[in-house]
Amino acid sequence: MNWDALVEAAWQARESAYAPYSNFAVGAALLAADGRIFLGCNVENISYGLTNCAERVAMGAAIAAGVRDFHAVAVVADTQVPISPCGACRQVLAEFAVPSVILANRSQRLVFAMHELLPRASSGILDRPE
Ligand code: THU
Repeated sequence: MNWDALVEAAWQARESAYAPYSNFAVGAALLAADGRIFLGCNVENISYGLTNCAERVAMGAAIAAGVRDFHAVAVVADTQVPISPCGACRQVLAEFAVPSVILANRSQRLVFAMHELLPRASSGILDRPE
């Protein structure tokens, strides 16, 4: 798969990051099955704990638009190694079965299957077998 356009969209989304507390800007681009791309950036808050990560902002935008089927998400930051999505975001991405997760910095790209980043995402919850 060529993820260039999706990764570029994530870099563009990062431009909108509101991160005055951490000064750490993150961008996410979520590719829907119908080809649409939904963007997210981190949105911090003075209470810290109310901060929304870029991945969950992108997912919220897609769900609010009525979209629930996804191919992939790209997440970017200007880090030494590609960014690692937090546990909460992994669970939210798993909720909607986003199959591929592309993590990138300026020079490197890592591609993971969702189940690699969060094994057993729903097994055993509400009696789900898998
Ligand atoms: N952040 C994201 O938006 N996505 C990630 O995958 C990791 C962390 C944000 C949250 C916070 O605004 C800042 O990065 C520092 O943790």
